[in-house]
Amino acid sequence: MCGIVGVLGQHEAAPILVEALKRLEYRGYDSAGIATLQDGALDRRRAVGKLVNLSDLLVHQPLAGKSGIGHTRWATHGAPTLNNTHPHRAGRVAVVHNGIIENYRALREELARAGVAHQTETDTETVALMAQHLIDGGASPQEAAQQTIAKLEGAYALCFLFEGESDLLIAARKGSPLAVGHGEGEMYVGSDAIALAPLTDRITYLEEGDCAIVTRQSLSILDADGAPVTREMKTIRISNARVDKAGHRHFMSKEIAEQPTVISEAIANYVSEEARSIRLPGEGIDFRALNRLTMVACGTAYYACVTAKYWFEQLAGMPVEVDIASEFRYRQPPVTEGTAALFVSQSGETADTLAALRYCAGKADRILSVVNVAESSIARESDLALPIHAGAEIGVASTKAFTCQLTVLLLLALKAAHARGRLDDDALAERLLTLRGLPAALNQAMSIESSVETVAQRIANANDVLFLGRGMMFPLALEGALKLKEISYIHAEAYASGELKHGPIALIDEKMPVVVMAPSDALFDKTVSNMQEVMARDGKIILITDQAGAAAAGDGVWQTILMPDVNPMLAPILYAVPAQMLAYHAAVARGTDVDQPRNLAKSVTVE
Ligand code: F6R
Repeated sequence: MCGIVGVLGQHEAAPILVEALKRLEYRGYDSAGIATLQDGALDRRRAVGKLVNLSDLLVHQPLAGKSGIGHTRWATHGAPTLNNTHPHRAGRVAVVHNGIIENYRALREELARAGVAHQTETDTETVALMAQHLIDGGASPQEAAQQTIAKLEGAYALCFLFEGESDLLIAARKGSPLAVGHGEGEMYVGSDAIALAPLTDRITYLEEGDCAIVTRQSLSILDADGAPVTREMKTIRISNARVDKAGHRHFMSKEIAEQPTVISEAIANYVSEEARSIRLPGEGIDFRALNRLTMVACGTAYYACVTAKYWFEQLAGMPVEVDIASEFRYRQPPVTEGTAALFVSQSGETADTLAALRYCAGKADRILSVVNVAESSIARESDLALPIHAGAEIGVASTKAFTCQLTVLLLLALKAAHARGRLDDDALAERLLTLRGLPAALNQAMSIESSVETVAQRIANANDVLFLGRGMMFPLALEGALKLKEISYIHAEAYASGELKHGPIALIDEKMPVVVMAPSDALFDKTVSNMQEVMARDGKIILITDQAGAAAAGDGVWQTILMPDVNPMLAPILYAVPAQMLAYHAAVARGTDVDQPRNLAKSVTVE
């Protein structure tokens, strides 16, 4: 992943770079660094760990100069050490990189044959070494950068800074997003427009294979074939306010608490005043013309898709397949006529999801996306992008984006059900009124927090936790397990309740907490049987259910988390809340870094 930034400014570059990096820290926080030019001389400061370490370093060892580049790292090649921290430098060249240079070993060998040795474990250093090697051979900085870029295989967003060239940045993009910002006598480069938001709202997005030659007064772009091209400059609307925790201890807790509000906004954006129809942007979607939906995503967004499959099948009678993007993109699945391909992504930049979208472009009848970041690559490359209106999600573990994704996907399923004649006007209106009640139900669910906290403290010392669910609660169980492992580092697995006896039951003993997510729905009795199987083997059941479920579950349940009653259609959205709270409080009890858990990043722009 990683975030990159560059500035050719009229003011000191270091504070501008650090501020932009703060806005990119969601892309990785293993280490950070900046390089600037002062009177043409290149210098850099780098620090391992979070950006605050770099800021502290700069207090003691400031870096002057009005031109510079910066980087926040999510380590791919090489441990997060100082030596591997960007910017990488070779002679006159400094470079920052987001992506993976897949042929770096071959390039290293080529350089080694020319007597150029590498000093770091990174793939990126090869880029700086190669450019400097070409400069040594007589190339100008611009030629050296372009010739280096032509040799690269893999994915990259790159920004070069050259000693002695205070008015030049070279930026290139292939597979990783990159934006150029236009200021007044200043120019900027950033992994996304959000990083540049306090500096400018005028943005040019580079396209695949583009190489940009940036000076304070000009931007020239060459396309993948080296031909000059013009890319549109857009004026974008992104708030430049940095989001704060609003009194919460962590962003994650704030984002959990925000769910009633943001979901109500998402509903208001799609449902008509009188709650009788669903409005989609642009030309909308003609579900009658479609006979299949292929949904593709990663991680939590993938679980949102798995949940939505139940809605599309049950409400709209529509065949749906759901796939993990990293598998889908290489499997060469046939995309048949009448298929709409739908990509779900909070960031809109996830590399595998974007690649899957590009695989479907030209094959599927429509490319749809459900995104939180409206200016993202996935949104821009879709025929129709549906925003989820979750607002900025800062905690690395997705919470409100998940439930907003679910809300928008449910609305789409209802739209499909209506279009395909499965719901008449009145039935649709009834469902929409039910949906309008969701924010209130979520508000009620917030009151369970202290009971969830108590349970979380009891599982905080467990080595393993099992999650079970049936029907739409199965993907919720998967999401609950993912949330728990990513922020508390407790090993957690999820199974469809009915699968338990086909293997995982061997794990059950008196040390194993088993979280069962089960509102008292049509499948509840079957889940009770599965709970009995666990309890008969001394497993400790944590049952998340409603009043009726708690009464029907009988004796032997170790802990019960009592949820408000909810319409079964909405249960997956409501039951996400206790799953999130359980993970959050277990992580707090274990003292982990809740908002920035180890090894993770918010936007996964490498495959
Ligand atoms: C987990 C989480 C990740 C993301 C996944 C996809 O809490 O946040 O699993 O859901 O990396 O990211 P997006 O939605 O940005 O494509």
